[in-house]
Amino acid sequence: MKRYHLTTFGCQMNEHDSERMKGMLESLGYAEASERAQADVILFNTCSIRETADSRFLSHLGEAKRLKREQPQRIVGVGGCWAQSVKEEVFERFPFVDVAFGPGQVPKLAEFLTSDSVTAQGYFEFEGFTGRLPARRARPFQGWLQISVGCNCSCSYCIVPSTRGREVSRPPAELVAEVAAMAAEGVREVTLLGQNVNSYGRDLTTKASAGQRPERTSFAELLGRLDAIEGIERIRYTSPHPKDMREDVIRAHAELPSVCEHIHLPLQSGSSRMLKAMRRTYDRGRYLDRVALIREHVPDASLTTDIIVGFPGETEEDFDETLEVVEEVGYDAAFTFIFSPRRGTSAADITDGVVPHPVKVERMERLLELVQRKARERAERFVGRTVEVLVEGASRTDPDRLRGRTRHNKVVNFTGLAAPGELAHVEVLAATSQTLSGEERLLARSGSLPAR
Ligand code: SAH
Ligand code: SF4
Ligand code: F3S
Repeated sequence: MKRYHLTTFGCQMNEHDSERMKGMLESLGYAEASERAQADVILFNTCSIRETADSRFLSHLGEAKRLKREQPQRIVGVGGCWAQSVKEEVFERFPFVDVAFGPGQVPKLAEFLTSDSVTAQGYFEFEGFTGRLPARRARPFQGWLQISVGCNCSCSYCIVPSTRGREVSRPPAELVAEVAAMAAEGVREVTLLGQNVNSYGRDLTTKASAGQRPERTSFAELLGRLDAIEGIERIRYTSPHPKDMREDVIRAHAELPSVCEHIHLPLQSGSSRMLKAMRRTYDRGRYLDRVALIREHVPDASLTTDIIVGFPGETEEDFDETLEVVEEVGYDAAFTFIFSPRRGTSAADITDGVVPHPVKVERMERLLELVQRKARERAERFVGRTVEVLVEGASRTDPDRLRGRTRHNKVVNFTGLAAPGELAHVEVLAATSQTLSGEERLLARSGSLPAR
């Protein structure tokens, strides 16, 4: 039996695509090799969001080159966003690569592997949903649902619109059927994926042909339809865009039992001037207004975010505004990134006000300190509460304890007896900025525990 090895870089979108790649390869009769050196087909699902992503991948690709030299009949394949961003150039720069394909072309990998092709092939159209391929889930009780591909925004720093194309939504009936099938297979938690999930469905109305009733569904309506599916206990999504965060979606968190009390709302900067330069199409006031609406409808919700430090032109005053927003919102967690110029993006051409690297690093340190202090303060509110935890497996730090996630998306390490995939009730005894720690409480299933 032939064996494959797949290394995944980047976001959940790529993790999901990789599950589909694995499902597809296994349906072709390939088995997974635990090490790259044992594989007949060496694959990479790549990311290009920041320069560090490129360099991490390239160091791995070096090993593939060596392995290919040792055994030339091996196949080396490169998929994903980095591949899309360099296209055919990949074969000139890395002649040992046999097949390259963008995120929309995963099914072409199967075509390549089953053909007698002896020449290298590249596939870079934007056309497919990997969501239509069979999945091999990492955990049987958690599933991804790709609701759309691509992005119609034009954030000036971002490579994604050029690697994933224009936004295309999948029809709601197809999504409902996919989640119902997942539920039947034992999935309890589903995470909806899209670059801008809350603009979901806007493109569907224009596609209906004459005489056909358009299947017009907003993101909030989609949440409602998925919430109604028996067996799905938790719904998450990532990422919404603040410009499209409407009250109906926020209300869904309060009204639909399975929609979790966690919203990841990317800020990027607290300075309206920087947001404009980033072409985010909202300003500080509009962002804070969205946060106020969330706090009004779902007072206890966890809020997390993404922030970029050192965008060209960012002054000390702009950065202070970011710190002010972080202080004011009080995020439960934040992903912080140093601005990285990306090929083909307009921000990469800005020469005025480029922030020197040591200044970026110093700002990053100040930001991280504040983010961690806030996260720790926020986490304190869970101490003494009994929370519902979806058990994921053994704790990474202590194999005798368990690990899982709360509806608020906090990781909990706890002592208990629950099995992976079960919902346990855990009393939180301590909290850090990153994790909670506690003990399982055995309560009757029909007990009076509040669900959240
Ligand atoms: N579609 C998602 C973001 C996907 S990229 C959204 O709009 O929220 C994830 C995060 O990477 C972004 O939110 C941004 O904070 C960061 N990022 C993207 N491009 C970057 C760049 N060139 N330099 C630094 N950080 C970047
Ligand atoms: Fe990139 Fe902006 Fe689209 Fe997010 S919304 S993927 S940051 S262009
Ligand atoms: Fe994701 Fe990286 Fe592509 S973050 S969308 S895999 S560039």
